[in-house]
Amino acid sequence: MRQNGKINLLGNSPAMIELKEEIEQVARSDGKVLITGESGVGKELVARSIGALSLRADAPFVPVNCAGIPETLLESELFGHVKGSFTGAYRDKPGKLEMAANGTIFLDEIGEMTLRMQGLLLRYLETGEIQTVGADRVAMSSNTRVIAATNRVLRDLIAQGQFREDLFYRLNVIHLVVPPLRERREDIPLLVDHFLQTLVAKNGGNGNGRNGTGASPGTAYGAIVRSISPQAVQTLTEYSWPGNVRQLQNALEKLVVTGRREVIELDDLPLEFRTSPAAGVRPRRERRRTIVDDLFKKLIEERQSFWAAVYPLYMNREITRGNVRDLVHKGLEEARGNYKIVLRLFNIDAGDYKRFLNFLRKHDCHLPFKEYRQ
Ligand SMILES: Nc1ncnc2c1ncn2[C@@H]1O[C@H](COP(=O)(O)OP(=O)(O)OP(=O)(O)O)[C@@H](O)[C@H]1O
Ligand SMILES: [Mg+2]
Repeated sequence: MRQNGKINLLGNSPAMIELKEEIEQVARSDGKVLITGESGVGKELVARSIGALSLRADAPFVPVNCAGIPETLLESELFGHVKGSFTGAYRDKPGKLEMAANGTIFLDEIGEMTLRMQGLLLRYLETGEIQTVGADRVAMSSNTRVIAATNRVLRDLIAQGQFREDLFYRLNVIHLVVPPLRERREDIPLLVDHFLQTLVAKNGGNGNGRNGTGASPGTAYGAIVRSISPQAVQTLTEYSWPGNVRQLQNALEKLVVTGRREVIELDDLPLEFRTSPAAGVRPRRERRRTIVDDLFKKLIEERQSFWAAVYPLYMNREITRGNVRDLVHKGLEEARGNYKIVLRLFNIDAGDYKRFLNFLRKHDCHLPFKEYRQ
């Protein structure tokens, strides 16, 4: 998908093809959109694609990150403020809602908004009124389309009293789900290729870029890497990518910056990417791998607890000690060697830490965590 020659939402997996069709459809309407998906899956890119494909393409697309900034600042960021309305307000400042006039505002990490801000946003959505901080009059909305995104499960937040249900229904007119990368592995080679090309181009792309001067931080300037071997791509395709596309992008950038030869080979990849069966590090039988993958999915995606989904199967000898060990191995990989995080991944109560470790030790499934630490 390419608009204005800029936005490029890559992927030919069935899931991505479907998502792109949805985006095209959504872009034709003007309804509010809620985009959900794990961190790094491409939610912002999806939002930008909608903006760029819509009739609002020539008007501004204004992103606002609702996380990590204090409530009062966020309020002024969205609604603007008048001079003198708080310390540091030296002049009138328009809010992002106004700046996005006739265009699109992208409210990122909407799940992190405080309840009071949620109330203010709801009022705006219901009345179209922009209540500028410190002003005594309200301005009317400037016809702005609202797209929101979150990596949180809003229904859970609602259940916990942290997110307003009425706001949820306001925002959730059209819901797009961006699937995690491990559910569309077909896209990985394409993404690897794209990121590598971009990094190499940034690097001059002519093979003599070993000039460190003028390098801006975080760019691959001066690197010698040009390509990646098919085996390495295969291995990257089998990795689980908990941080999704962003993690893949960062991993490639690191490989390019630190690479010491033109082609990235299998053994250049960090160990964490290489411990999958097909990488040859740990040959396993297909059947066993499938069982473990299924169990892992139950824990990670379906959020079942280890005690309910795994323990009884093992005690009834429906799965083997090897299965449990493989599962722990996968957990440790994901948690980079931190058993406490494994506990969380496996949906075990923190209070059960000792019980879990005792169980693993007793059944010889306690793997040393050191080799998973980086
Ligand atoms: N399908 C894709 N094609 C090309 N690049 C992608 C794709 N998906 C994501 N990216 C790139 O991956 C990075 C992360 O994407 P983005 O910021 O949209 O994710 P996000 O879901 O908003 O992440 P977060 O939850 O961390 O905010 C960006 O650099 C983006 O350009
Ligand atoms: Mg984002």
